Amino acid sequence: MCGIVGYVGSKQAAPLLMEGLRRESYRGYDSSGIAVLGSAPVSFRSVGKLEELELKLKGQVVEGGLGIGHSRWATHGQVTEENAHPQTDCANNIFVVHNGIIENFGVIKKKLEERGHQFRSETDTEVLPHLIEHFFEGNLEEAVKKALSVVRGSYAIAVFAVKDPGKIVAARLSSPLVISLNDTGGFVASDPAALIAHSRKMVFLEDGEVAVIEPDTFHVSDLNNQVKKKVATELDWSVEEAQKGGYEHFMLKEIMEQPEAVANALRGRLLVQEGRAKLGGLERVEKELRAIGRLNIIACGSSYYAGLAGEYMLEEYAGIPTDTDLGSEFRYRKAIVDKNSASIFISQSGETADTLAALKEVKEKGGLTLGIINQVGSSLAREMTAGVYNHAGPEIGVASTKATSTQLAVLALFTLFLGRQRGMSLTMGKRIAEELQKLPALIQQTLEQAPHIQRMAEKYATAANFLYIGRKYSFPIALEGALKLKETSYVHAEGYGAGEMKHGPLALIDSSFPTFAVVPTDSVYEKTVSNIQEVKARRGPVIAVATEGNEAIQELADDVMYIPKTLEMLTPILALIPVQLFAYYMSVLKGNNPDTPRNLAKSVTVE
Ligand code: F6R
Repeated sequence: MCGIVGYVGSKQAAPLLMEGLRRESYRGYDSSGIAVLGSAPVSFRSVGKLEELELKLKGQVVEGGLGIGHSRWATHGQVTEENAHPQTDCANNIFVVHNGIIENFGVIKKKLEERGHQFRSETDTEVLPHLIEHFFEGNLEEAVKKALSVVRGSYAIAVFAVKDPGKIVAARLSSPLVISLNDTGGFVASDPAALIAHSRKMVFLEDGEVAVIEPDTFHVSDLNNQVKKKVATELDWSVEEAQKGGYEHFMLKEIMEQPEAVANALRGRLLVQEGRAKLGGLERVEKELRAIGRLNIIACGSSYYAGLAGEYMLEEYAGIPTDTDLGSEFRYRKAIVDKNSASIFISQSGETADTLAALKEVKEKGGLTLGIINQVGSSLAREMTAGVYNHAGPEIGVASTKATSTQLAVLALFTLFLGRQRGMSLTMGKRIAEELQKLPALIQQTLEQAPHIQRMAEKYATAANFLYIGRKYSFPIALEGALKLKETSYVHAEGYGAGEMKHGPLALIDSSFPTFAVVPTDSVYEKTVSNIQEVKARRGPVIAVATEGNEAIQELADDVMYIPKTLEMLTPILALIPVQLFAYYMSVLKGNNPDTPRNLAKSVTVE
């Protein structure tokens, strides 16, 4: 998500920090800042592009060989200078940059305020410098370790203290951090891309590790002071390759990031023992939500398909009548907004013109508006009455991947939240929460099939048309699979409800027209198998996405991609992976750049 960079050594820190931030800027950010320690600490923060921060630094004396920098992608608190990092304590002794989310910041902040700490931002991050200040007795490493044993959540941090100079203390939990040294000093960053111009030898920190970085050395230990031996990895990546985490394209990187993205979307939001979802963003409308009798989901493109799967979840498990609309249709179809209903707007960018226009229409008609948005502070996020962020991190590839899987995960959380307000039993609530918790590992397991899926793409690379079919929860995945294929590989593909085959599309089938059948072992399995048989009877090749352990499907389908078993309503999250990977590999085989499909933009701000 956000970017961290730090330097301690014989050179001036400020230009190195700015360069590091620039190299991380491809990740997306909305504000930035640096703090440098010379004879006294100086700190500069700014909203917007790095050029704004550069303007602030112009003409200033920013001398010192120790500093930390950050580019922020807002999660808690608006995009303002006060919320940008570095964040400091009351005495301006401790300077902190942080990636991640401190889940228990509310409780910590309250306790620290009772002890007289004055907070200046709306961020969760600010509890860190104050907590470190609370424990600081002259040794920064000790104070950081004590502070980190109190916090819950995820973090990558870099910290310096005016009263314990000459070092940066860095630590990680579920958010990446890398260290390197060269003959001028020590570096730390959240992304190797920021450091590769200075050294190719990288030391990657593991969860729970704390590093103390000095100009010519560093040491690593855990929160219990157990020393950790670290081995450097030599990276032979170019800066551009480093930005893609070593992957050939952002699309592949973002597909591979989905276990982490979904874990971030779920983090701190599941109360497994209570079988409930804790959605802070919905708390202020909790009472209104208890009373609503209908939901309307509004979105475009892949976000709309996620919404379709959400409709099925909300009706089946939360018992709320739900409709899903395209933003572009809703705004013109003179929809009736029932006062007894709420509308859920889903958007990665938060800037899609049609979704935004639909939101304004619902607001004008007095409806309750909720959001599932990835981009914090975006137009939709600002206009919404209440909502839940995906926390997928910036998505750079134009084709949506990790945004879609996290939208589905958040829709499952909505289902749990609203379902438990209604008739959903504790047993069912617990079951959903437990299965959701397993998802990141199951997604990882599915991703391991990438080489097999690549071979499938090679086998079918010459087909000019594809049909994608599925029923119930797999129907939106059929639509999404077809969309992913056409937008990245420019191969014609159509998504259909499998039950619709004999109402038209079956006429297309012959031995040159492959069908991608999403057929997990679920409540409609046998029905979909009948539809596959209809295709096979016309000699159409079939690629099946099926549940692990289903050997029988191999007799029917020409090729099979397996997904692990999960609760039926969560199957779309796993079935997404093979269709994304297939589209990605097809695109590369066709010689396209899947990150920038022709004629398309990442953020559709025009009608
Ligand atoms: C497809 C894709 C688009 C978007 C659509 C809505 O891969 O990315 O179909 O899903 O343009 O965008 P957001 O979610 O930003 O509103």
